Amino acid sequence: MASALLRLQPSMAPKTYHLTIALQGDLGSGKTTFTRALLGHLGHQGKVKSPTYTLCESYEVDKPVIAIHHFDLYRMRSAREWEEAGFAEYFLGDENRCSICLVEWPEKAEGTLPTFDVQIQIDYADENQRMFDLRAASDLGKQIIAALS
Ligand SMILES: Nc1ncnc2c1ncn2[C@@H]1O[C@H](COP(=O)(O)OP(=O)(O)OP(=O)(O)O)[C@@H](O)[C@H]1O
Ligand SMILES: [Mg+2]
Repeated sequence: MASALLRLQPSMAPKTYHLTIALQGDLGSGKTTFTRALLGHLGHQGKVKSPTYTLCESYEVDKPVIAIHHFDLYRMRSAREWEEAGFAEYFLGDENRCSICLVEWPEKAEGTLPTFDVQIQIDYADENQRMFDLRAASDLGKQIIAALS
């Protein structure tokens, strides 16, 4: 997925993209692990903390510049807590740089989040294997999934 994203950007230059990814799957299915791997492939070198208590942890990689916002909404007590916490702007995108929002437990927002470009369902296969099902809900999402195959 990271290579699809890195290939996407030059083809869109000088425009930027704003991508939202829903990460669905049971507790421990691998949503944070996927996000860590994606951040690593995009060039992030530091730690990736699980945003369990903060709702969101943000990163910026620089080659190319992409702002990445990693959400875990599992502990929200109400559907709009993500908005009340001031994170709505992350879902609007930014005309000066690419951005990606990855959201674990989007179902906790009960439909109050904007439509996701890509939905990833992760299922536990066995201790060492997971199954991924990717669905696109926008042209950008379709472009990314097409670039993967
Ligand atoms: N693709 C994978 N292959 C093998 N093991 C994995 C894979 N993805 C995750 N794991 C293991 O599963 C465990 C849970 O992973 P992770 O924390 O990413 O789950 P999660 O979906 O984010 O859970 P939560 O819903 O609690 O946030 C970790 O021990 C991790 O090493
Ligand atoms: Mg997690």
